Amino acid sequence: MEKPKVFVTRRNLPAGLDLILADCQADIWEIDSPTPRPILLKRIQGVAGLLSMLSDHIDGEVMDAAGPGLKVISTYAVGVDNIDVEEATRRGIPVGHTPDVLTEATADFAFALLMAAARRVVEADRYVRTGHWQTWDQTTLLGVEVHGATLGIVGFGRIGQAMARRARGFAMRVLYFDRQVKTGNLPADLIAEPVDLDTLLRESDFVSLHVPLTDQTRRWFDAQSFAKMKSGAILINTSRGAVVDQPALHEALSSGKLTAAGIDVFDPEPLPMDSPLLTLNNLVITPHIASAARETRERMAVMAVENLLAGVRGERLPHCANPQVYPKG
Ligand code: DGY
Repeated sequence: MEKPKVFVTRRNLPAGLDLILADCQADIWEIDSPTPRPILLKRIQGVAGLLSMLSDHIDGEVMDAAGPGLKVISTYAVGVDNIDVEEATRRGIPVGHTPDVLTEATADFAFALLMAAARRVVEADRYVRTGHWQTWDQTTLLGVEVHGATLGIVGFGRIGQAMARRARGFAMRVLYFDRQVKTGNLPADLIAEPVDLDTLLRESDFVSLHVPLTDQTRRWFDAQSFAKMKSGAILINTSRGAVVDQPALHEALSSGKLTAAGIDVFDPEPLPMDSPLLTLNNLVITPHIASAARETRERMAVMAVENLLAGVRGERLPHCANPQVYPKG
C-alpha cells in the first residue's frame, strides 16, 4: 500500500523524524526557518497530514491548498492559536497538539524569569562583561526579594499550577485567577487562594501569565491592567505575546510603575530589532524558549508525530485540541 503523503514545515527532532519516515512519504522543509507561505501552499497540495510549528499560520487557505484528502493537522506545541481550529473543526479535521509534556519545563522557565527579573541576573552579567565591576558596593544592582513575596498567577491550568508549586518552595503567598478552574477539583496539596483579577493585580508582587491566546485574552494586559498592579510589581509572561499590549508594557516599565518584567513571548515574533522594548534594562527578554529543555522538546516531537500518524491512519488522535470532530460515545 502506498504510504500517505505528509508535509513537515520544519526540520523536526530525529526522534520524531524517524517515525514519520518509517510510515509516510514525507516532504520536509529542511531549512531552519518557517516554510515561506507560497511554498507551503504549493507543497501541501494533496497531503494527508501536516506537521506544523507555532510560527506557521494555518488557516482555511492552507486547508484548501491541501485539498479534501487532508486528514490531520498536528502542531509541535500545546498552544494552537496559530491554527484556525474552528475552520478545521468545521471541515472535520482533527488538530493535534502537545499538552502535559512541557508543563514542568515551562514552569521552570517562568520561575527562572521571575528570579532573573527580581535579582537582575541579566543586567548583572552585562555589568561584569562591560567592565563596570570596579569594586564591591552595598547598593550595586539591588533587586527585590522573592521569598515570602506574593505571586499572582493568571490562568491556573497545568502550567499555572506547576508555577504555584515552585512558588511554595520559596514560601510565597500564591493567589490565582481563573474563571474555569473549580477550586474543589484542584489537588489537595496545592496551596493557592482564588481571587478576582483586581485583587490579584492589587496584591501581587509578581504576576505570571499562563493563559492561552483567544479573542478574550488578546491585549488583555493593557494600560488599565498595569495601572491596577501594585507599584513596583514584576510581570512574567511565558504564554503568548499578544496577551500583553506591548506599548503599555513599555510605558509601565519605563515609568517605573513596574520594577521589571521577564518576557519570553512577543507579538510579533521574532521581536523586531527596532522594538523600543529592547532599550529597557529592567526587561529580561528571551526568544520563546520556555519549553526548550532537550528532553521536553524530544517528548513534544514524538507526541506531535504520534498525532500526525494517528491522523493519517484515520485513528483518533491521542492529543486532540478539537475533540468535537469525533462522534460522541
Ligand atoms: C507551546 O507549546 O505552545 C509553547 O509556546 C512552545 O513550546
